[in-house]
Amino acid sequence: MTLVEISLAAPDAAADSAFLAQTTDLVNRVYADAEKGIWRAGAERTSPDELAGIVRAGELAIARLDGHLVGTVRVRRLDSGEGEFGMLVAGADHRGTGLGRRLVDFAEGWARGQGLATMQLELLVPREWTHPVKDFLREWYTRIGYRPVRTASLADDFPGLAPLLATPCDFVIYHKPLSG
Ligand SMILES: CC(C)(COP(=O)(O)OP(=O)(O)OC[C@H]1O[C@@H](n2cnc3c(N)ncnc32)[C@H](O)[C@@H]1OP(=O)(O)O)[C@@H](O)C(=O)NCCC(=O)NCCS
Repeated sequence: MTLVEISLAAPDAAADSAFLAQTTDLVNRVYADAEKGIWRAGAERTSPDELAGIVRAGELAIARLDGHLVGTVRVRRLDSGEGEFGMLVAGADHRGTGLGRRLVDFAEGWARGQGLATMQLELLVPREWTHPVKDFLREWYTRIGYRPVRTASLADDFPGLAPLLATPCDFVIYHKPLSG
């Protein structure tokens, strides 16, 4: 994967509608597949408008392979003081090549660079059944040092999303101490 380059998108890319459309398409395609059974038909992970705000805030990192968009990760500092990553996406043709790991390393490096001591992520999981993708993620995140710190109900914390759910879901919040 030596040709993969990961960097924060420049805030002025928020005005680049082709870039926003391409990135929205990648994120929505990957999540539609990864979160099958969780959302009702038509629910999408993001939109060009939402991404524009994230890019403008300097929070969207982009992975490119030979100049082509292959992955994303959103990084931000929470009001509670932790770093958080989300919108972690590797294009389907680039899975299992270490891209996901490099995106997480990038996010953790970013948080360390901001002087943050803890990294957070949220894993959305069905309450009543085991989702194979989420199970893989739980195992992987545990392997790379993340531990669950609390569980919250999606419908309680984000009531606006509740009607879009196809099944009751919780999100499990994981933390990892950042050292070095
Ligand atoms: C999560 C995601 C970004 C990982 O991308 P990836 O490029 O496949 O990641 P990697 O190649 O770095 O592999 C991640 C881990 O899974 C392991 N792995 C990859 N493919 C595997 C396979 N076929 N079988 C078993 N393990 C596998 C790797 O060894 C690695 O573990 P390690 O870090 O302990 O070595 C990707 O699966 C994805 O886009 N998923 C859909 C979106 C999503 O659910 N995002 C997370 C929301 S919380």
